[in-house]
Amino acid sequence: MINPRLVHELNEYPFARLNTLIADLPQPAKPIILSVGEPQGPVPQFARDIVVRDLGMSNKYPPNQGTPELCKAIVGWLERRYALPPGTLDWQKHVLPLAGSKEGVYNIATVAVPQEKNGQKPAVLIPNPFYQAYLGGAVLSGGEPVFLNANQATGFLPDFDSVPAETWKRTSLVYLCSPGNPQGASASLAYMQKLIEQCRRHDAVLAIDECYTEIYNETVPAGGLEAALAMDETGGKNPFANVVVFHSLSKRSNAAGLRSGFVAGDPYIVAMMLRWKTYGGPQVLIPIQNAAAALWNDEAHVREIRAGYQERFRIAKSVLHNKGGFFMPDGGFFLWLDVGDGEAATRKLWAEGGIKVLPGGYVSREVDGVNPGDRYIRVALVQDIETTRAALTRMAEIL
Ligand SMILES: Cc1ncc(COP(=O)(O)O)c(C=O)c1O
Repeated sequence: MINPRLVHELNEYPFARLNTLIADLPQPAKPIILSVGEPQGPVPQFARDIVVRDLGMSNKYPPNQGTPELCKAIVGWLERRYALPPGTLDWQKHVLPLAGSKEGVYNIATVAVPQEKNGQKPAVLIPNPFYQAYLGGAVLSGGEPVFLNANQATGFLPDFDSVPAETWKRTSLVYLCSPGNPQGASASLAYMQKLIEQCRRHDAVLAIDECYTEIYNETVPAGGLEAALAMDETGGKNPFANVVVFHSLSKRSNAAGLRSGFVAGDPYIVAMMLRWKTYGGPQVLIPIQNAAAALWNDEAHVREIRAGYQERFRIAKSVLHNKGGFFMPDGGFFLWLDVGDGEAATRKLWAEGGIKVLPGGYVSREVDGVNPGDRYIRVALVQDIETTRAALTRMAEIL
């Protein structure tokens, strides 16, 4: 027998649904793929060189807890990026390298969701729309997903004040994505601090997915560790209680295929993630850990990649004007366009323009009879600049 939660509570994955949606349409001669959030730029050459150089180390099992060099590089990056005083983070306690952030945002549910909370089924709060691994983690760990709409009315971030006290009482895990996929809204320091306080009051784990944090337009996104440290009342004993953040090289460094990310924060939660990882998680190849350390230590390639996305957004603004309610997101690399009917627009763009986008409703769930993504399409600006310009120009004509 197969786990019925897997069969009945998880839909087909959005990209499979997309393929079904357009299966009856002719295949365009030169399709442009803007549906998947996979940066098409190259992995920096110095990182590729390290992977090739160190492949011979593949006869050894990689350490579950990460190499000291990688853990130290991650700590150094976090302290520089979020202006944490040097020495705030201990590389042996506060960080754990992962095979991409997807592994972490899924498995934090395995770690954080108990059988019952206060005698009830545990709730997992999820922004709606959302990255699908949150739902996978919530459902397969036995939690009940509770979706919080993050729409125009809420500034594209979930309104945690709207969660009833009864639900908070049984909440064991809270997801936040900042900058968000797909809407690109960044949570302020004050927003995060209020949420940290709510999670602590209700003994819930707060998992902040920050995998887009290095891709932003004007304002540098705040981080969960920075927020927690600034409100610390433990005299530095446990400033990150209940909080973990997830990061990745996939978007920051064009390195989606390297499968490298990390979790950082509350040392007890990090230790439990390591315990889980030693029992069943994937290890990260040593050559990849070595390349990852070099990538976290370098900012030049990140500045260049970020500038490329800023240029793409400038092009989108000038080409689309206010078509599809275009707005400039705080961060990330998606356009979130209100086209009235996301599925119909997706079919039209494919049939008439050879452009593949994702219907917004495929990354959100219905709440009270309404799916907040249904009116939208998600457009990933991950192709090179000239392809992006051509695709957006064609989109503006078709929409
Ligand atoms: C919001 C969000 N979180 C996590 C991930 C996972 O990324 P990775 O596992 O490549 O780090 C993605 C990838 O698209 C994402 O969009």
